[in-house]
Amino acid sequence: MKALVLCGGAGTRLRPITHTRAKQLVPVANKPILFYGLEAIAEAGISEVGLVVGDTAAEVEAAVGDGSGFGLAVTYIRQEAPLGLAHAVLVARDFLGEDDFVMYLGDNLLEQDLQELVRRFQAERARSVAPRLGEGEPLLPAAQILLAHVEDPQRFGVAELDAAGRVVRLVEKPEVPPSDLALAGVYLFDSRIHEAVASIKPSARGELEITDAIQWLVDAGHIVLAEILKGWWIDTGKLTPLLEANRLLLEQIERRVEGHVEDSELEGRVIVEAGARVVRSHVRGPAIIGAGTEVSDSFVGPFSAIGPKCVIQHSEVEHSVLCGSSRVIDAGRIEDSLLGYDVEVTRSARRPRATRLMVGDHCQVDLS
Ligand code: G1P
Repeated sequence: MKALVLCGGAGTRLRPITHTRAKQLVPVANKPILFYGLEAIAEAGISEVGLVVGDTAAEVEAAVGDGSGFGLAVTYIRQEAPLGLAHAVLVARDFLGEDDFVMYLGDNLLEQDLQELVRRFQAERARSVAPRLGEGEPLLPAAQILLAHVEDPQRFGVAELDAAGRVVRLVEKPEVPPSDLALAGVYLFDSRIHEAVASIKPSARGELEITDAIQWLVDAGHIVLAEILKGWWIDTGKLTPLLEANRLLLEQIERRVEGHVEDSELEGRVIVEAGARVVRSHVRGPAIIGAGTEVSDSFVGPFSAIGPKCVIQHSEVEHSVLCGSSRVIDAGRIEDSLLGYDVEVTRSARRPRATRLMVGDHCQVDLS
């Protein structure tokens, strides 16, 4: 079993952060989203990983390297343009060979154990073969999809199941969804998917959809298993789900104080990384203060992930992600926010009193 991890895509829904960064490397709870997926793959006992990369290849390679830090052997596979998830399988043909594989979208986060999903696929395949040996074509499941009940199925691939729970139809981003069951970004396939991805045509958005490839498998009479997800799943590609993922992951942290804390109150599950300083401040967990960050005369509230090398002075920050190296000074109260790297939010005494902005394309500023 191999893993194919998808890190292409333009990340348009997370602009401006993704003008300069790979969306899969945006940190939640101070760790790049992609790393959670790679760790889950390693825990599932898979070591050979193909990482499909696009325009942000250099940045992803710099972060992941050869994968040995995760106990993985990573092969980089270049996707020249974001032409769809099924296109990523096409370009990974040589890497995948005839092996079964798990396909994992690098911007998806899953609470459920990946190992459990992989085992189920393997067990179902073993079970279907055993009694049929010598009886012609075995009814070997060709794929397994993971489904989640969602409130906004129009945003996803959507599955329709029959009474026995078998997949009968899949549609990508339907205007009128046949169910509320969205396809989560974790799929298991055997080598029959290669014929499927080579047979389908681009969708209305000009992409080769993995959803259509799976429908092709169903139409060809192959068995596609469906698993309903346990626990939460988040496609982090937009601000609100990204903050939600940050919240859910911070819920799991344990208190750990390795940095310098002076005249301050740390309430509940707070991590202060080595090299961080918290002075005359109040931090209410769950929250993380990253390495080299200085918080002074400030309040950092629940569900805040403050990345490394930030400065927070005379300000309040809550339910926010600061990626790193940002300065927040006399800024009043900041909530529900995502700050990229090297961002400055300051207050000056200059006259006339005014809000002065230098923000790039696709930024959002919400003044109180
Ligand atoms: C993709 C898939 C969609 C799936 C989703 C999960 O959507 O096309 O079927 O439900 O990932 O994150 P995209 O992120 O390309 O819009």
